[in-house]
Amino acid sequence: MRVLLIGGSGQLGSEIRRRWRDDDIVAPRHDEVDLGVPSSLDAAVGDGNAEVVVNCAAFHNVDRCETEVETALRINAVAVERLAELCAQSGKRFVTFSTDYVFDGMTEWPYGENDCANPISAYGVSKYTGELLVQRMRSDALIVRTCGVYGVRPSATKGYTFIDRVIAQARAGEHGRVVDDVVASPTYAGHLAEALRALLATNARGVVHASNVGPVSWFDFAAEALRQAGLEPTLDAIGSGEWKSGARRPRYSALDNVRLRELGITMPDWRAGIAAYLADRPGHPE
Ligand SMILES: NC(=O)c1ccc[n+]([C@@H]2O[C@H](COP(=O)([O-])OP(=O)(O)OC[C@H]3O[C@@H](n4cnc5c(N)ncnc54)[C@H](OP(=O)(O)O)[C@@H]3O)[C@@H](O)[C@H]2O)c1
Repeated sequence: MRVLLIGGSGQLGSEIRRRWRDDDIVAPRHDEVDLGVPSSLDAAVGDGNAEVVVNCAAFHNVDRCETEVETALRINAVAVERLAELCAQSGKRFVTFSTDYVFDGMTEWPYGENDCANPISAYGVSKYTGELLVQRMRSDALIVRTCGVYGVRPSATKGYTFIDRVIAQARAGEHGRVVDDVVASPTYAGHLAEALRALLATNARGVVHASNVGPVSWFDFAAEALRQAGLEPTLDAIGSGEWKSGARRPRYSALDNVRLRELGITMPDWRAGIAAYLADRPGHPE
């Protein structure tokens, strides 16, 4: 496949570049193709010869989105609509990513694609608006919702991964404080990149959930990461009320990969995600 990859330096984009070895991938830098600059999208997508456009870029600093709503909507919704439009016009397949934060978290079982979205943060609203704008075009676009992504190239937004932080704290003899009442399905970017490649070999369109399998609290996830790294799980459980943040986040946002399973594509469970991440980290053999 000839692929135009936007956001190719991020957690997921890096894994796509690393793993889709048989594909011809062009991955312009952020300053070359910027979702905030429509003319750069027109030039990259409209004039290029890619068969598939994969958009891994987003404004996903969840707390900043609360106060920078206009930017969130411009990057996560309007620009995504523009990309879908350009792809539809030029006969390219379009893939973009959405989030578990489109849900309100008022449930106790993993969300399937047909469950009702009801975002409770500006970030979630902006990503869901992007989904709706793309879907209204009735194109063959794929909208892949994922959850708690971590990768060997940490997001520039945070600069570190959650796993690296708890490992560093344990090695320093500190007790990490981790919420035990927030449940998600944290996803290793490498596994997501593999699932996406398999998905593109089908003619699936619309919303598809793709996350490492199994709901897990962030506390249990951190404890398992420490165990797998050969460290004592020295952690203090805290309630989400003790964790101050600008945006509301869903208490429960694990995803159920219903459509992926129907397509015969399986993703490893969350423990295998940790194991693969620890094995793949450059210079950090555990
Ligand atoms: N991370 C999560 O926990 C999570 C959870 C659910 C869904 N998602 C979604 O999954 C997708 C991939 O996330 P990720 O974790 O791989 O993100 P990431 O690591 O933060 O990477 C984002 C990429 O997009 C680029 N970028 C940022 N703003 C841009 C803009 N305005 N125009 C063009 N490029 C821009 C970044 O380049 P620079 O670094 O050079 O700016 C980087 O290459 C996103 O759609 C995100 O919303 C993420």
